[in-house]
Parts: sequence; structure tokens; C-alpha cells
Amino acid sequence: MRRRTALGLAAALPACARAQQAPRPDTLRAIARAAGRGFGAAVRADLLASDPAYAALFAAEAELLTPEWEGKWLALQPEEGKFDFSALNAIIAFAQANRQRVRGHALLWQEAIPPWVATALAESPERARAVMEAHFSTVLNTTRAHIRDWDVVNEPIANPAGADVPQAGDNPMRDTPWFRALGPDYVEIALRAARAQDATLRLTLNEYGIEEATPDAEEKRTRLLALLRRLLDRNCPLDALGIQAHLQMRKPFDPAPFARFLEQVRVMGLAILITELDVREPDTLAADIPARDAAVAERVKLFLDTAIGAGCRTVITWGLTDRNSWLGSEPGVARPDGVATRGLPFDEALQRKPMWQAIASALRG
Ligand code: XIL
Repeated sequence: MRRRTALGLAAALPACARAQQAPRPDTLRAIARAAGRGFGAAVRADLLASDPAYAALFAAEAELLTPEWEGKWLALQPEEGKFDFSALNAIIAFAQANRQRVRGHALLWQEAIPPWVATALAESPERARAVMEAHFSTVLNTTRAHIRDWDVVNEPIANPAGADVPQAGDNPMRDTPWFRALGPDYVEIALRAARAQDATLRLTLNEYGIEEATPDAEEKRTRLLALLRRLLDRNCPLDALGIQAHLQMRKPFDPAPFARFLEQVRVMGLAILITELDVREPDTLAADIPARDAAVAERVKLFLDTAIGAGCRTVITWGLTDRNSWLGSEPGVARPDGVATRGLPFDEALQRKPMWQAIASALRG
């Protein structure tokens, strides 16, 4: 394990990251701050290092940074006991230079798991717990001074049968290597293990597919509420719910049921964060770009007004620009026809789009 001091991190910073931006009032970062809210975006260490315009945009517009890849298990512990914090440290150093905060993402997830973990999890429940505890111990203690909020469990709820991503059977918990190794209590085991390492860390449970007005999303909300209630009834430590908000234009959005859900979460005493906002455009696109952008912006405004109205104070987008978005690159997510998506606040030339205005307006409240 390598521990670096804050000084060491700053020294490792590329010149572009050290250039301080003069505070600008017309940024999402400043608009959110003025309203007592927080705005941030998922960021990539490789692009911070290689693309000065990208780095400058993140420095100016985001107050919170979520590592898009660098905090995942495969990035941090690719081999058992061999940790690599270099990419995550680069993001932490950038954040320090630009007075930003970093969220941790994600301690447990069914993706980005190296093969050795899959093998270890299949061995025995004892081995699974030991592997989890060793990872949490090193990661949380190494990042303790800089990351005060982690997605401890990502995507624990199963998609209902027949949904976009079906699974065998219809257990409300998603069938993951962690679920198979430790049963449905793995979420509680993980939250307790994280709390044992750090008494004041904000523990967040992060989920997707719970935003829209579809029967699948409604069922997923019901399943998630049941899990949250069970955890809190058992005095399991948990501080916040992260709502990914990978919105899809082809699905309807209705503020009323979503607001009801948020209210039910809020009365449990949990904070609510929008953690991964972006918008997937429909299979049939409107003819021109202004019409597409207007539709995306309208959806974002309605969605964020609902979330902020229900007490959410933190909005994070999954990237800032269409040039660097998983919506354009991820198989199964990118449009099969190769048409570029426009689901983030900045376009491929890093210019503001109507979605930027929509976020700004919602953040001002
Ligand atoms: C995605 C990244 O954006 C991709 O670059 C990567 O290949 C796969 O993961 N939900 C999450 C994120 O919690 O970690 C995912 O990020 C997007 C969906």
C-alpha cells in the first residue's frame, strides 16, 4: 500500500491542474453554492492529465468530483493485496488544487470486479467477508482524509422480470457475486464493515432505474424502500440514498410518484443525492438539434425540480460533455446507429447547451 501526503499529491499534479481558475459566478458550481446546494460531475483521471480544456471545464463548473472508474475495485485492487491508488490520487490532487470535494464510487458493485475476487467469493462466506473487509480497510483508510462520502453498495436491487435487463427468478435483490456469496444480508454486512472502518464517513447506497413512470421503475422503488426499511429497522448504519438518474427520453417521467418516493426516503432520515445524471435520447430522434436539446433540457428541469423540491441538495452529472460520455462509448448504452448523444450539459465542443441552463435554473430553485 502506498500512502501519499497532501504535499506529495500536489507535487504530482500536472501543470494544467495547478492553474487556478478565477472564481466565476456564472458556473453550475457557483450557482449551486449560492443556493446552498452542491453540483459536481464524474471525472476521468486520464482526461484530466491529457486534455487541458477538459480539466479547465471541470475546475470551473464542478465542486464535487466522482471518479468514473478510478474508485472501482478493478482499478484499486486488481490483484489480491496489490493496491494501486495512482489514478484516484490524481483526481484527489486535482480536487485539492481546485478546492473541490471527491465522492467515493464504489466499494461494492457487480461490475469492475477482477477475476481473483470472483474466485474468492465463490470459495466460502468467510473468505468473502475477509476479502470485503480487507478491501474496505485499505481503501477507506488510505482515502480517509480526502473522501468523506462513499457509495458503499452500488445497484443492489434486481430489475423486475421482463425489464430491460432481466434476470433469472424474481428475487428483489440483484443476483450478484456478493449476493451469491453472502446472501441478501451482504448489503448490511458491507455497510457495517464500512462504518467499522470510519465512524463519520457518509455511507451511501446507490441505485438506478427508479426514476421514471414505468411499472418496472415503480416495482424497483418498492423493492428499494423495503430494503432501506429493513436496514434501518435493524439499526444498520446508512446515511444517504444515491439516485443515479440515467434518464431515458423513451420512458415517461411523472413528478408525482417520484416525489412520493423521495418523501418516503426522506422521512427515513436519509439524505438524497442525484449521483449520475445524464439523458439517453429516444430511438427515434427529433429532426434537428435544437429540438433534441430542448426536449432533453425540459426533462432535466422537470426531474431536478422534483428532486430538489423533495430536499435533494446535491446534483452530480455522469461527465460534463458529450465528447466524453459513456452514452457515446459504452456497448449497450451508445446508440446502435452511431449517432452522437446529447445527454450532458456541454456539447462535443465544450459549449453550454440548454441542459446547462436547465440544471442552473433547477439549482437556483
Ligand atoms: C460506467 C462508466 O461510465 C464506464 O466508462 C464504464 O465502462 C462502466 O461504468 N452506473 C454506475 C457507474 O454506477 O459506475 C457506471 O459507470 C454507469 C452506470
